[in-house]
Amino acid sequence: MAIPNQFEQKKSKQSLELSNQIQELKKKKNAVILAHYYQDDSIQEIADFLGDSLYLAQQAARVKEDIIVFAGVHFMAETAKIINPEKKVLLPDLKAGCSLADSCSPNDFAIFKAKYPDAVVVSYINCSAEIKTLSDLVCTSTNAKKIIESIPLKKEIIFAPDKNLGAYLSKETGRKMILWEGSCVVHEAFSFDKILDLIKKYPNAKFIAHPESKSTILEIANFIGSTSALLNFVQNDNASQYIVATEVGILHQMQKYCPEKIFIPAPIDDDTCACSECAYMKMNTLEKLYNCLAFEKPEIKMNTDIINAAQIPIKRMIELS
Ligand code: 13P
Ligand code: SF4
Repeated sequence: MAIPNQFEQKKSKQSLELSNQIQELKKKKNAVILAHYYQDDSIQEIADFLGDSLYLAQQAARVKEDIIVFAGVHFMAETAKIINPEKKVLLPDLKAGCSLADSCSPNDFAIFKAKYPDAVVVSYINCSAEIKTLSDLVCTSTNAKKIIESIPLKKEIIFAPDKNLGAYLSKETGRKMILWEGSCVVHEAFSFDKILDLIKKYPNAKFIAHPESKSTILEIANFIGSTSALLNFVQNDNASQYIVATEVGILHQMQKYCPEKIFIPAPIDDDTCACSECAYMKMNTLEKLYNCLAFEKPEIKMNTDIINAAQIPIKRMIELS
């Protein structure tokens, strides 16, 4: 193991001090920290609840504390606020958005939806609150198949905003779906050719992928699943090496649960970096988290009518999960 240099030692000492200060402040303010697997390792380590989008929405529904600090992206914090409108929901950086959510504007989506008046609208949780108000059901990558299968066979389905997840679900369930043309920049970036090269280089490794990835990538995967499904898979599978096609943050938990196994981040098309990082998720830092708790801002503020309308498809999802 490499010995940390002086700069790294100083940085990890500062991180530890800040983490301790966050824990103290959290108790004083009666707050809880929810964090997604794509957050920086240091944030994952201080979270009260760490998980995928579904788990975090379920936990948000059970929170007893007065303040929720959401270490994730905007649509996740917004969902926590919709589920829990009476709580104060803080997001360390309000600019932590999502390319998938941004690819679906409410005006354009309303025009699209109007073309199929009889269709059931299922939206992936990675969308704005306005899109949720235009949806019959919300889903995450963990429960999407179950949600789709709950819809009567004779019904048409609109799926938005992720075309890759939609195409994967259509194949898995055999249901024809009208897809919105959105995608996640992080999962779209994986390079098919470089992944094939890695598979050749590590013939004993299994290739596992998140369903937000392109269909060509999913076709060569040994296992496809949400972040929690991928984490579960590596813990219960007997291989010792994995090439992982999702945001690199999940590798922290994989390595923690399976210290004896090797995890290789799937390469992307861009030659300037080796793995796929979500720039939005990584906008949150320990410093910003401390400040948002200390000053109780930035806070997620929402219009009550939007909260009430968006609650309906989210509550249906939680009941069906
Ligand atoms: P899950 O947490 O459902 O696996 O989704 C990953 C993701 O892209 C969150 O933005
Ligand atoms: Fe959005 Fe993709 Fe980042 Fe998830 S990984 S928050 S879908 S941009």
